[in-house]
Amino acid sequence: MPDDASTGDAEFVDFWNTVLVPKFIKFKHVLVDGLTHHSEAIFPNLKVKEGDRVLDVGCGFGDTAMKLAQRVGLEGRVLGVDCCDAFMDYGRRAAAEEGYENVSFENGDVMVMPFEPEYDFVFSRFGTMFFSNPVWAMRNMRTAMKPGATMTHIVWRDRDDNPWLNMAKEVVLRFLPPPGEDALTCGPGPFSMASQEMVTGMMKSAGYHNIKFERVDAPVLVGRSVEDAIDFQLSIGPAGEVFREAGDEAEEKRHEIEAALAEAIDGQKKEADGIVMDSSSWVISATNPGG
Ligand SMILES: C[S@@+](CC[C@H](N)C(=O)[O-])C[C@H]1O[C@@H](n2cnc3c(N)ncnc32)[C@H](O)[C@@H]1O
Repeated sequence: MPDDASTGDAEFVDFWNTVLVPKFIKFKHVLVDGLTHHSEAIFPNLKVKEGDRVLDVGCGFGDTAMKLAQRVGLEGRVLGVDCCDAFMDYGRRAAAEEGYENVSFENGDVMVMPFEPEYDFVFSRFGTMFFSNPVWAMRNMRTAMKPGATMTHIVWRDRDDNPWLNMAKEVVLRFLPPPGEDALTCGPGPFSMASQEMVTGMMKSAGYHNIKFERVDAPVLVGRSVEDAIDFQLSIGPAGEVFREAGDEAEEKRHEIEAALAEAIDGQKKEADGIVMDSSSWVISATNPGG
């Protein structure tokens, strides 16, 4: 990890904007609607009250920013920040259509965005795992917090507790080599903050106090059908990365890989809206000293 991260995450930001945004738009029904359990479960207990100023970091399409805007009411304000213009445009459009007057969106790299200590609450659902230097980024997020303010972020727990992402990777690795050192990625990746001990150390280094972990286990939608789930797995996440990096070899073996994935996915639980698998996250809360 670099000691000096002052130039931000330009390389990853570019990858998010060019490679991942179209895939996130295509699979919004999985990545946003399918994962809401992980925020829904804890939303009622968040330390947010009417009139608060709230920052939502790596807010994606802006759905959590809008939920937070309901909590703070018209006396409060929510700012959603993300490094992808397309997500910010989507958030602005959705907020205008739904009549929110207390939420706004700003494009920026959270590693280096300048903040003032004006927020009562800082939130991030599945945003903090992708910074190249999470200590640096979380320290910067803390500069946005008033003394005594709370930060809550949600990150994925271990691979083994997240078969919805890991199972497909294991299937794909039966056919293709793992990505090399120089693979193009979106950052450290979904399991980079799974270790409670390591994240506690990171957050202490970033200056947070009262660091607490809560485990949330929830089923997630992985696709509306087996075909949709295969398409999702080969497009995004750990399996998608192996497939993308293998290039021509992956395309040559696409048929076999899809058949193996179909068998594995077909064995999963089916509900009215599609195929559902287990997942597990940490909800981590901490305070800014002072106050
Ligand atoms: C997995 S998505 C989560 C999005 C949203 N919070 C949700 O739960 O649907 C991670 C988000 O972090 C954003 N992101 C990644 N690196 C960032 C950075 N350096 N600065 C700002 N946003 C970043 C991405 O653009 C993406 O929208």
